[in-house]
Amino acid sequence: MLTFALPTGRSLDSCIEILDSAGLPTEKLKKAGRNLVIEEASFRYLLSKPSDVPAMVYYGAADLGLAGKDVIEEAGIALTELLDTGRGSCFMAVAGPSAIAEKFNGHLCGLMGLKVATKYTRLAERTFGEWGVQIKLLKLNGSVELAPALGLADCIFDVVQTGGTLRANGLSVIKKTMPVSLRLVAGISSVQLRWNSLFGVVDSIGAAVRAA
Ligand code: PRP
Repeated sequence: MLTFALPTGRSLDSCIEILDSAGLPTEKLKKAGRNLVIEEASFRYLLSKPSDVPAMVYYGAADLGLAGKDVIEEAGIALTELLDTGRGSCFMAVAGPSAIAEKFNGHLCGLMGLKVATKYTRLAERTFGEWGVQIKLLKLNGSVELAPALGLADCIFDVVQTGGTLRANGLSVIKKTMPVSLRLVAGISSVQLRWNSLFGVVDSIGAAVRAA
């Protein structure tokens, strides 16, 4: 039995497409409903909150996982990244109202003390840190686009896919910082101890994403 951690939510359809194209069984997975553990043939799928996929893999609950580069970087735990599937493409960005966008046109030291709302605190600190800018972080667990309008933050640092949520909330992208896509990951010990069992699946997924 090979256990796969998959993210629930909007990435799940892309994950199912990847697994499907690699010839893995997905019939029950497509009808998972509220089931969080699906067993099909010799595969077990764990449906996990996207940000928890890295931990599922790291702690050995799953042999393999599909996770966005955003949550992998934010988790900050050592995983083996086996493949970039190129699917679920989006990007990390600083976004905000137009008045704040102007501040980014000048010298970045003008951003010192900027209030940034995000669910990606580690990545935000790292990104602004690379620009030499110390920020005030507001950690939110979702709907971060609310923060500037409520006066809780000057801008947000978040993942952007269609840009629809930003537009609907009067915000726009100020600075793109990192491309994001779904990565196939494994725990370091799984790779060392179970590579013979994992290899076939990793190879099939690699061939499928290259052929797409
Ligand atoms: C993510 C992200 C944005 C939105 C971006 O939130 O935090 O809010 O998607 O997507 P878009 O560019 O296509 O509008 P998610 O849907 O995961 O929900 P959350 O706000 O509860 O985190």
